[in-house]
Amino acid sequence: MKLRKVVFPVAGHGSRFLPATKATPKEMLTVVDKPLIQYAVEEALEAGFTDLIFITGKTKRTITDHFDLSLETTPNMSEQKKALFDRTNRIIPSHASCIYLRQGEPLGLGHAILQAKPVIGDEPFAVVLADDLIESKKGVLKQMVDSYDDENASLISVQRVSKEDAQQYGMISTNDNDGNLMKLSNIIEKPKPEDAPSDLGVVGRYIFSNKILAFLEKTKPGAGNEIQLTDAIKVMLNDLPVFAYQFEGTRYDCGDKLGFIKANIEYALKNEKFGNELKEYLKRRLA
Ligand code: G1P
Repeated sequence: MKLRKVVFPVAGHGSRFLPATKATPKEMLTVVDKPLIQYAVEEALEAGFTDLIFITGKTKRTITDHFDLSLETTPNMSEQKKALFDRTNRIIPSHASCIYLRQGEPLGLGHAILQAKPVIGDEPFAVVLADDLIESKKGVLKQMVDSYDDENASLISVQRVSKEDAQQYGMISTNDNDGNLMKLSNIIEKPKPEDAPSDLGVVGRYIFSNKILAFLEKTKPGAGNEIQLTDAIKVMLNDLPVFAYQFEGTRYDCGDKLGFIKANIEYALKNEKFGNELKEYLKRRLA
C-alpha cells in the first residue's frame, strides 16, 4: 500500500523553550526565515506524502494560518511584492491536503498520534516531529520511504548519541550490529545513562504499520505520566518487525535552545545572500 499519510504532532508545550513558546508554538520558531513546521512539511511532500495530518492544541493557531493562502495581494502592490506573496503562499501543492485535529488534553506523544486514528483508517503512516530538524541531501523521510517495503514492518530513525544524552531520547538495541536497517530488540524511553541498551537514540521520524494504533490504545501512562509512543513500540516488538534506520544527515534538536541556535548558525552560513558576510563577521568576532 502506498504511503500517503503523515502525522505531525504539534500540540506539545515546548517547555524547554519557554518563554518563547508561551503563546507561540515551538514548531513556528524559525531557522533563518522558515518555521520548523514548514521544513517538516516540505520533507514529507518530497517523500511523496499527500495527506498531512496535524495534531494541534491550545495556542497553535498560527500553524493552521501558516499553511493557508494567508497573504493577500492588493492592486497597488509592486509586481515584485505580489510575486513574493504568491511564492510564499504556495507551500502546499494542490494534490496534497492539510487535516487539522485537536488533542484536547496534552497526554503525551502516543496519545497525540492516537487522535489521528479516524483519519488514518487501515493504512500505514509516517510520523514527523518537527523540532528534530535534519539537514540532508535527500530528506530523511524520503530515505525511509525508499527503504520501506513491508506493510507489517515499522521503521524508526536513529542516530548514535553520547552516553549523557541517553536520558533525552528513546534508546534502542538491535539484533544486528550495523548497516542502515537493523532489527530492533528493545526500546526504552529516556533511560538513565547506565540503563541505556546501546548508544542508538531515536530521532523524530517514523513509519508505522497500522497495527501500532491498537498497541497505543492499550498503552497506559508511562514516563512523565504520559502515554508514550515508545511503550507501544516495545510491546509491538513481540509480534511485528520494527527496524531502526540509520539516516544520512545532520540532526539539530530545535526543541532545545542550544540545538536551535546551532541550526540557525549552520543554515545561515549556507545562505546564498548573507552566508559569506556572516562567516566574516563570526571570524572577526571570535578572533
Ligand atoms: C520524543 C520521543 C523520544 C525520541 C524524541 C526524538 O521525545 O518520546 O523517544 O527520542 O522524541 O526527538 P520528546 O523529545 O518529545 O520528549
